Amino acid sequence: MKSTLVIFGITGDLAQRKLLPALSSVIEAEKCDELRIIGVSRREVEQFEVLGEHHQHLDGTTSLFQMDLNDTQHYERLKDYIDAGDDEQVLYYLSVPPDSVTNIIERLGQAGMNGPRHKLLLEKPFGKDLDSARAMVEHTATYFDESQVYRIDHFLAKEMAQNIVAFRARNAIFSHLWSAEYIERVEVVALESIGIEGRVAFYEQTGALRDVVQGHLMQLLALVLLSLEGELDWESLPGHRLAALSAVEPADPVRSIRAQYDNYQSEVDNPHSPVETFVSLELHSNNPRWASVPLRLTTGKALDCKKTEVRIHFRGSTNGQGDCLIFKIQPDEGIEIDLMTKKPGYDQELEHQKLSYMYPADTRLPDAYEQVLVDAISSRKSLFATNDEVLRAWEILAPVQQYWSSVTDVQKYPSGSSVDDIINA
Ligand code: BG6
Repeated sequence: MKSTLVIFGITGDLAQRKLLPALSSVIEAEKCDELRIIGVSRREVEQFEVLGEHHQHLDGTTSLFQMDLNDTQHYERLKDYIDAGDDEQVLYYLSVPPDSVTNIIERLGQAGMNGPRHKLLLEKPFGKDLDSARAMVEHTATYFDESQVYRIDHFLAKEMAQNIVAFRARNAIFSHLWSAEYIERVEVVALESIGIEGRVAFYEQTGALRDVVQGHLMQLLALVLLSLEGELDWESLPGHRLAALSAVEPADPVRSIRAQYDNYQSEVDNPHSPVETFVSLELHSNNPRWASVPLRLTTGKALDCKKTEVRIHFRGSTNGQGDCLIFKIQPDEGIEIDLMTKKPGYDQELEHQKLSYMYPADTRLPDAYEQVLVDAISSRKSLFATNDEVLRAWEILAPVQQYWSSVTDVQKYPSGSSVDDIINA
């Protein structure tokens, strides 16, 4: 199928770090035939500068288009430029700061660039709270039908996130145990050793709750909680994720920790900033299947390690039983089960061992952004968040957001701390 991908913000950080490398790999792997890329930028730039090291794979398919994003006539020019090709579909990727998104959507709509062959790919943040997210969903719906909208949550597209579903659906020993009767608690963690890496304005408006918990961690949690009956049907996943999130009760601020790494305020040059770089929340589902199972979501920057994992802790029937199944989302993608075994030797001692599956070293795992692009081009929506999922996630977080907005104090932690250090401080 002939497709044009129009990237708004081709010179921006996301396009440079994630989209161009992903496109380069996808084109090299011949996953998208007949793809034309139009990179939109506000300022005049040279193509070789924008494409950099991805020049080799992208040069032949890419062209740049300079425009003022606030000028209606420039959208007309862009429309003519796009229409000069004979594409069956046009995808707009809005890789731009949140405050430009609404404007671009409106102008695309007003210029008639929103017909059925057009798709809209949106990056988070999807609003900053429930009210703004609702307004954003409504505004987008004025110009684009929900079927045309692809809300990206790149965690859903990570190989191991998809594997949570495959593993649960296709391994009977675990599917029988997937309930409160056997599971004592669930932890979803996305820990980073890096700080905010110069994203000062973005982070000051966002913070860890909006940046990582609202989308990424909620989505991973939904993959654990969702009901998987019968045949594995990927297309039905968004509906199942929504049902899972709908049963999660609004977060209790009393069971929530927010903290900030020690030199954050000087890094953002705001001595009173209360913005959190660490969050840990305990949630609960009112689905009887998950009755009383604590569901802990934790994320933070400037920690002692980089690790994204989903940990399922099983109930031990006697003390000292091995009890943990870990989906290692990154790095060292794989699945690990914590087991107790007999220690070799004459004495009847036991020891911890791990049963683990890691992908062989030469396996190439596609980057999440490659998957996102391939799926959007192929009209596969299972790995994208629907408007209802986004709104439900905000509803769950609303009590914590409200409480935090009334408290200016934030717990501090030294860079390089562990999660336990922060939680037990
Ligand atoms: C992004 C957040 O969505 O995810 C970043 O904005 C975070 O703050 C990043 O660092 C983590 O993604 P990944 O794929 O590098 O683990």
